[in-house]
Amino acid sequence: MGSSNTYDRLQELKAFDESKSGVKGVVESGITKIPRIFIRPPEEIAGDEGLGSERGQTQFEIPVIDLKDIVATGGDHADDDVVGKVRCAAETVGFFQVVNHGIPMKLLQEMLAAARVFHELPKEVKMEYYTREEKRRVKFSSNFDLYQSKYANWRDTLFCVMAPEPLDPQELPLVCRDVTMEYSKQIAALGNVLFELLSESLGLKADYLKSMDCAKGHCLLSHYYPPCPQPELTMGTTKHSDPDFLTILLQDHIGGLQVLCHNQWIDVPPLPGALVVNIGDLLQLMSNDRLKSVEHRVLANVEGPRVSVACFFTLHTHPTTRTYGPIKELLSPHKPPLYSHTSLQDFIAYYDNKGLDGYSALSHFKL
Ligand code: OGA
Ligand code: NI
Repeated sequence: MGSSNTYDRLQELKAFDESKSGVKGVVESGITKIPRIFIRPPEEIAGDEGLGSERGQTQFEIPVIDLKDIVATGGDHADDDVVGKVRCAAETVGFFQVVNHGIPMKLLQEMLAAARVFHELPKEVKMEYYTREEKRRVKFSSNFDLYQSKYANWRDTLFCVMAPEPLDPQELPLVCRDVTMEYSKQIAALGNVLFELLSESLGLKADYLKSMDCAKGHCLLSHYYPPCPQPELTMGTTKHSDPDFLTILLQDHIGGLQVLCHNQWIDVPPLPGALVVNIGDLLQLMSNDRLKSVEHRVLANVEGPRVSVACFFTLHTHPTTRTYGPIKELLSPHKPPLYSHTSLQDFIAYYDNKGLDGYSALSHFKL
């Protein structure tokens, strides 16, 4: 029985993939029960037992940091208070929200709306962008780890590599073209400010992380989490940490993003106008575990769709010979390096090949 199950599963995964219409297409087909490829296996659910996951039931909160004074001075005179708050958040929960970050509310709303419009295009139009080809800079797909993961997530994604090589706007779908270009420009500027603050929070010169090219490249991932008839049986995004330097996330009002903190799932509540910032695996590696790349997940929801736009600061699609390892200024006889050096290509190849399995890719690079 086991093997016939496995065979069916592969067939069903392929049928889903070949439909090129993602989870949104499954919902449109009028199902009332979710297909079995999306069902979380019992051992995964068992792994959650003992973890507090009831909404609103925890004493921990994701800090909110006001960047008003920083953005006004162009980041030059980061006041110690803000640096201290960033340090505290980045060294503990690994997540914080920023407000007064300088990106107008209108642009945030337009970005979310445009992402939604793309995902709600007729499937014949969206299909043209559907691909698993690594080289393509603009691709629509569902479940990047479809064939590796134990169960598929209730989520579709439009993935766009925006920098360092400028993206030809013509490659973007018309419905989200202009707003994506503008959002990318503004989020890159905010990224610069955040890398300065993070450098300072590590006791390094403000431009240290930028000089390591951490801010040089970014991708935008526009996620669409369709309403799910049985949200308790699946997941919007399986528990994972991010395979980049830093992530800036724009989420809509639905909620469902949770962070694992002291063995409890805590909510990242939607806050209008705020952006969610989290440390990625590569900054944890470079900071020799001072900054924390913390696991998080997204619950499937009934009331959706939920839309979010994640900006991943990374260079993995850009050919570079640079390798990343613990920063030497942060090492001492008492603080020996915990990780080996890796190229970004090797890191991402390992991450993608593993898929979202609930385990961190970082442990593979531990010395
Ligand atoms: C991600 C991620 C969260 C969200 O893209 O890595 O964790 O709310 N996204 O979509
Ligand atoms: Ni993530």
